[in-house]
Amino acid sequence: MSTPSELQDSFGRTMRDLRISITDRCNFRCLYCLPETEEAANFYRDRFNPDRAKPLNYSWKPKDNFLSYEEIDRVVRVLASHGIRKIRITGGEPLLRRNVERLISQLSSIPGIRDIALTTNGFLFPERAEALRSAGLSRVTLSLDSLEPETFRKLTGKDGLNLVKESIRVAKSLDYAPIKINAVIIRHLNDHEIEALAEFASEQEVVMRYIEFMPLDSGRAWQSEHVVPKAEILDRLSRRFDLDSVEADRPSETAKRWKIKGCPGEIGIIAPVTEPFCGNCDRIRLTADGRIRTCLFSLNEHDIKPQLRDNVDDVMLAERIREIVRSKEEKHYIGEGRFQQPDRTMSYIGG
Ligand code: GTP
Ligand code: 5AD
Ligand code: SF4
Repeated sequence: MSTPSELQDSFGRTMRDLRISITDRCNFRCLYCLPETEEAANFYRDRFNPDRAKPLNYSWKPKDNFLSYEEIDRVVRVLASHGIRKIRITGGEPLLRRNVERLISQLSSIPGIRDIALTTNGFLFPERAEALRSAGLSRVTLSLDSLEPETFRKLTGKDGLNLVKESIRVAKSLDYAPIKINAVIIRHLNDHEIEALAEFASEQEVVMRYIEFMPLDSGRAWQSEHVVPKAEILDRLSRRFDLDSVEADRPSETAKRWKIKGCPGEIGIIAPVTEPFCGNCDRIRLTADGRIRTCLFSLNEHDIKPQLRDNVDDVMLAERIREIVRSKEEKHYIGEGRFQQPDRTMSYIGG
């Protein structure tokens, strides 16, 4: 149910979830996002799409373009009074930004905000986990695409496997819950680890989410052949484990979920390519430089920095955002002729 003051798009969807990218910088070079390593070049060389568009020539935005924490706080306050309930802090790598703890603490006190989560690659999380928890963060999502040190390095450009494992240990000790793990599965790269990742989730009592690779990489090297479809992941897991499906908490959930019978932990499959979930989408995104994106795949961005910096009042700011939400896309068109890859990578948009 929505009320007149809430943010509704022209397809009747009401926005509840705001994902805020606080920096476009990253200390990783994931092959599905910023494939700038030699390993990425080697992987894609034999598999590249001859018709692909030119790779993005992406350069970091100047830092003074970033919204300040006060500006972000203001946007969230205004949106919370118009129905936004969930906040996810993302990047790039959000922990590269100074004093994220201060932002979390500010946002936690906003009336109406019920849930604040962070998506991180885990490299800096162990040293920040306690301060973030004290600031009011209760949930974290860590990226972990491989349990093999060499494959992890190939995928991310960093020797970071042990730090991500340490992040999980620290998050558990500080009672972060649930702890979600994101694994983007790419054919011929880490698809041999599907079962091992589920075993890891069960041992560690965390939520493992397999994600279909989406065309959001700066190299524009994505091809449908790289995608391991949900049906295949599920088939492999069902052969090995006895799975019980878990009912969604909300219609807008991105993942379909299962329990491994008799084991703690949970698995989820996020299938934006083969089973799009746009119909129930309640998400909007705010980029580090103050643009609203109404879809991961939006070709248009809406700059609200001028309104924030000209100090328009809250009513006008809300009206501007309401108008932007009305233009939210019905769906993405991956796999259809009219699909056009946005000229931003995940590192800019946030997961
Ligand atoms: P919570 O319910 O808050 O835990 O978040 P979530 O389940 O949406 O998970 P998370 O924020 O970790 O997102 C997981 C992944 O799902 C992202 O990294 C993206 O790959 C994908 N994803 C999230 N939102 C969208 C979306 O709106 N569209 C598409 N196509 N993919 C999305
Ligand atoms: N396809 C699917 N998921 C992606 N992510 C980043 N790039 C892609 C992509 N091209 C997800 C990863 C990461 C989160 C920030 O975004 O799971 O954990
Ligand atoms: Fe990897 Fe996230 Fe950094 Fe992109 S922003 S390179 S997905 S860690």
